Amino acid sequence: METTRNSGFEAVIVAGGFGTRLLPLTKHRPKHLLEVAGVPFLEHQIARLAQAGADHVVLATSYHADLFEPILGDGSRWGLRLSYVLEDEPLGTGGAIRNVAAALRPDPDAPIVILNGDVLSGHDLGGQLADFARPRDGRPVEVSLHLVEVTDARAFGCVPTDGAGRVTAFVEKSDDPVTNQVNAGCYVFRRAVIDTIPAGRVVSVERETFPGLVADGHVVVGFVETAYWRDVGTPEALVAASAELVRGVGTSPATPSSDGDRWVATDADVAGDAVVDGGSTVCGGARVGAGALVRGTVLMPGAVVEDGAQLTDAVVGPGARVGAGARLDRVTVGDGVEVPADARREAGSRLE
Ligand code: GDD
Ligand code: MG
Repeated sequence: METTRNSGFEAVIVAGGFGTRLLPLTKHRPKHLLEVAGVPFLEHQIARLAQAGADHVVLATSYHADLFEPILGDGSRWGLRLSYVLEDEPLGTGGAIRNVAAALRPDPDAPIVILNGDVLSGHDLGGQLADFARPRDGRPVEVSLHLVEVTDARAFGCVPTDGAGRVTAFVEKSDDPVTNQVNAGCYVFRRAVIDTIPAGRVVSVERETFPGLVADGHVVVGFVETAYWRDVGTPEALVAASAELVRGVGTSPATPSSDGDRWVATDADVAGDAVVDGGSTVCGGARVGAGALVRGTVLMPGAVVEDGAQLTDAVVGPGARVGAGARLDRVTVGDGVEVPADARREAGSRLE
């Protein structure tokens, strides 16, 4: 996807959720740092922001907040400044955005890009910024929302728009979705809007801020795009996203180069007759034994697959070990778990 480059904008990544749907992988780490296509997830987002022209990215963290900086550093790797703002108690998505206001430059009209910290998107962020900068009926846009079409909208925020692209409602997670057009978790806010969010309390941007802005007649617009997009918030989605990046179905400037079928870290150890394919990743220090089959699977750092084991669309946490001859299809294995030899586990199981 072609991305128009803008110069020097600021961005916020809300990355303080508990990642409950990814348990047990998120017991000891936030989902934002789980390896996807061989790198901690946030690296995909930061690299994309840098590519689009961001010069300052603020991470709004809470759960396991101390783990981010040692891994991501000061941003110099991407040629931008990375800062961290901690919530002692999670303030919700809107509260998190309000809480970083002091870390942003004061210009009230500046466009601030805000990302949910678990979405992978190939959409034209530069195009969204350009669209945001275009007044509607002489009035400035207050918020632009990247919107995508999904087949089942129940897990998302539904966002109907009118013929001119103006958002007419925002309905977070309903059993009876009013549209299949949903919030993709990438916003552009006019800087001044952030200061209107109440400070010091829990606020949901989806349940309070967006419906409130729409009800009050502010200019909130949708930026609809069909490029590759995924929320990686479940094990199934994380595994699929990782394989899609390795296979080039999805794109990210942070994906390490691969042969299109697998990515194996230089310090991983894969037996000569093992089969590793389907977009699998074998992270640093991981090992795959003789005759093993690893397909569409994520092996996190130090994970071990013993001889003859067969894994399909699975994710194996750091330091976990899958015993010889075991067969795992769509299974999540938590950090350090020992899966017995010849074990069979039902699709969808989570081992901890
Ligand atoms: N700092 C901070 N504090 N971050 C938070 C908090 C908080 O209290 N609560 C959630 N977050 C972060 C999460 O870590 C994640 O990066 C982001 O906010 C969104 O939270 P999720 O828990 O992943 O929400 P979701 O996937 O159910 O729904 C959201 O994303 C959908 C698109 O993927 C909503 O924004 C939906 O409207 C949207 O359709
Ligand atoms: Mg999510």
